[in-house]
Amino acid sequence: MLVLALETSCDETAAGIVEDGCRIRANVVASQIELHRSYGGVVPELACRSHLTNLPTVIDAALEEAGVRLAEIDVLAATLGPGLIGALLVGLSMAKAMAFALRKPLVGVNHLAGHIYAAFLTQPPPTFPFVALVVSGGHTDLYLVAEHGCFQTLGRTRDDAAGEAFDKVAKLLALGYPGGPIIDRLATRGRPDAVAFPRAMLAPGNYEFSFSGLKTAVRQHLLRAEEAAGLPVEDIAASFQEAVIDVLVTKTMDAVQHTGVRSLAVVGGVAANSGLRGRLAEVAARQGVQLTIPPPELCTDNAAMCASAAYYCYRAAPERVAAGEGDAWLRLDAKATLPLRSWSTARSGDGAATR
Ligand code: KG4
Ligand code: ZN
Repeated sequence: MLVLALETSCDETAAGIVEDGCRIRANVVASQIELHRSYGGVVPELACRSHLTNLPTVIDAALEEAGVRLAEIDVLAATLGPGLIGALLVGLSMAKAMAFALRKPLVGVNHLAGHIYAAFLTQPPPTFPFVALVVSGGHTDLYLVAEHGCFQTLGRTRDDAAGEAFDKVAKLLALGYPGGPIIDRLATRGRPDAVAFPRAMLAPGNYEFSFSGLKTAVRQHLLRAEEAAGLPVEDIAASFQEAVIDVLVTKTMDAVQHTGVRSLAVVGGVAANSGLRGRLAEVAARQGVQLTIPPPELCTDNAAMCASAAYYCYRAAPERVAAGEGDAWLRLDAKATLPLRSWSTARSGDGAATR
């Protein structure tokens, strides 16, 4: 079964085609980084307009990459949220128009489910039940995933997401946007023990995160360092990154132990971080835990991950989809804030297929 998904929740215009939920046939991402760079962050109105102009080209490129015609696509999908509302609406409206014209089912996908399903496009895929750490620009969430589409929240950030902390600290250091990859590169040349930045809420059994204090600690360090001779920026980057990694790895492995699972998936943009990947690989191997981290291009936003999530979501309720529910699919709505709901237990809802 071929699923074509569109993902436009933030500043990447993406189309992906995935076969049977696990084989990537096409994964096309048009990045808008250059468009937003001079503003130091994503400008929502510019992102929406750019999605609108990029989408047809990106969809054509995906079909060409997969070597399929539009008529051969079995199911269409689009991200419903969370994300920038205008940006989401562009992708969802396009997917609705395509579903209408092709008379094909349409599946609405939660962006966080998309990130988790990037793990099913990776070797080895996770084994149920597993713990998933979703660590991105907007989220730092820990889930227990009992089976396909069954997500139990263990904890999440109380304030900033880890990726947001990377971006804000890069801004404080005047490094540019987006900050994560720049800090990642600099950190490889710095001393991770140069500054003892705080590690928040490390008590065992606490799966909530907080990164805003860490960001403030970096700012205070920079203010103090202006009076004394400052440390090289590589040392600050490495020390900051080390603090983030310590917290993410400690809490995640604590959750793995506490739940008794033997499989762990780490997904989302920050999972592209080389320091985090290295540390997780080391700790998971030592503890005998199977670790799945998608390759970097599947960690950051893409539509192949959404196509995989849509496949499993569709497979869970094909009769509902095939029978159709009048015009219910047309009422699928984009939402800026959208909690990740289980589709294997929910009878209907935001993660569910509806046409
Ligand atoms: O998943 P994603 O592409 O978009 C969201 O859903 O937010 O994640 C983007 C975030 C940004 O904050 C970016 O700085 C961060 O992921 N990021 C990284 C790296 N690559 C991207 N953070 C640390 N190290 C990286 N190599
Ligand atoms: Zn994302």
